[in-house]
Amino acid sequence: MSATVFFQEADFITAAYIVAFGMFITGLAKLTSPTTAVQGNKIAALGMLVAVVATLLNPDLDGADFALIAIGLIIGTIVGVPSARNVKMTAMPQMVALFNGVGGGAVALIAWAEFRQPFELSDELDVGIPLVFAAIIGSISFWGSNIAFGKLQGLISGSPVKIPAGLFVNIALLAIAIGAGVAILLGSESEGLFVLILVAAAILGNLAVLPIGGADMPVVISTLNAFTGLSAAAAGIALDNYALIVAGMIVGASGTILTDQMAKAMNRSIGSVLLGGFGGEAPAIEGGGTENGGTVRSTSAADVAILLAYARQVVVVPGYGMAVAQAQHAVREMSKALEKKGIEVKYAIHPVAGRMPGHMNVLLAEADVPYDQLKEMDDINPEFGRTDVSLVIGANDVTNPDARLKADSPIYGMPILNVDESKQVIVLKRSMASGFAGIENPLFYGEKTQMLFGDAKSSVAEITSELGAL
Ligand code: TAP
Repeated sequence: MSATVFFQEADFITAAYIVAFGMFITGLAKLTSPTTAVQGNKIAALGMLVAVVATLLNPDLDGADFALIAIGLIIGTIVGVPSARNVKMTAMPQMVALFNGVGGGAVALIAWAEFRQPFELSDELDVGIPLVFAAIIGSISFWGSNIAFGKLQGLISGSPVKIPAGLFVNIALLAIAIGAGVAILLGSESEGLFVLILVAAAILGNLAVLPIGGADMPVVISTLNAFTGLSAAAAGIALDNYALIVAGMIVGASGTILTDQMAKAMNRSIGSVLLGGFGGEAPAIEGGGTENGGTVRSTSAADVAILLAYARQVVVVPGYGMAVAQAQHAVREMSKALEKKGIEVKYAIHPVAGRMPGHMNVLLAEADVPYDQLKEMDDINPEFGRTDVSLVIGANDVTNPDARLKADSPIYGMPILNVDESKQVIVLKRSMASGFAGIENPLFYGEKTQMLFGDAKSSVAEITSELGAL
């Protein structure tokens, strides 16, 4: 191939990469609003297609086994498309964990394959250092994500698993991985040392995530997501591939920001999440009875309908239970019935309601709830005082006043929806069981609170039919 042709191809590939980066960034920007999120996702996916095609056109790939690449693409498509289409919204966090892990694993394997190329890493430290970094972080991310997947999928216990002298063991494993990396960079060609890096990082990935409880898993997944991005960027530096560098850095940066925001919304420092111990599987609290000196008052759909019919403003507070019951369409129908009666309906969206970022927004958007009715926590909290009825639908922890009032509560300090300030509170859930944090909610025993027990979808449908009869 002549130098001019190579130059032109390289120019074309760089131009295609720049187009792809533009599409990634446009896609991300559009993800910030529910109205444009789907379009943003499609644009970013198209950008990735552009980047993949440009990479396959790279003249450096001359002599590559394209049949093998095609087989990889076909297997990835066969596995990826149906699982993405069929996954339930409630299982989305474990799906993200799995896909993120695959990314980290791919980076670790790329690093290994590059190590086997016929050049010495010690001669080319600008390649060697990022490769060792990619191998360590990629392997941690793959194995850590698998544990996160296993916990969320219920394959292993969601409770924190205590490892004796865990911190010490983890530091030792990291030191082994780094030490083996340094030996390679100083001139050792031993493949055994490279495998040692991967194995030490793999054990570290497992041991780092096992002690963390199920409730903290989405924060962990987003941290591992940031890790995968950084390892991909490092692999990009080693391979001199701009697409990997930019895409990796975008994932690294957005994963870091998301981790920070989720940790803040759950009132957890990232350090305390990663050191583990909080957020095991929620023990069920059986029966009604009294708690905090209060009594549980149970009500009926007919009585709730009457209460709602006399309200001026109703705030719907959706939570994980609405997702489990798939009640979003029923909730939308009920809101329409209320609006027909001239009642103003708003939705209070807590940033960590449900089990993944944006969970409630996605469900309500699916049910065509107008976006201007969705109110962020900071916007709706000042309104609870003048709200006639707050309808808590399958939400629990995000409404728990202990977060504001009880200094020894595990969720003390977590920002919550101040539902208890409204004039009446109706809570729709099946029992007195706790939410993800596994703790009692005094809201349920409050004087202004009534419980409508049952599956959220059928309870809401009953309320709507009672409203129709009024
Ligand atoms: P939770 O506190 O988990 O409570 C959900 C409630 O829904 C449960 O108490 C359950 O009570 C009820 N429920 C379950 N199935 C139901 C059904 N079919 N019909 C009616 N009710 C049903 O939910 P939340 O208030 O949304 O809070 C989210 C929690 O998850 C927080 O602790 C948050 O920190 C944590 N978390 C969130 C995220 C993200 S990013 N969103 C990530 C990790 C952890 P019954 O069993 O009695 O029905």
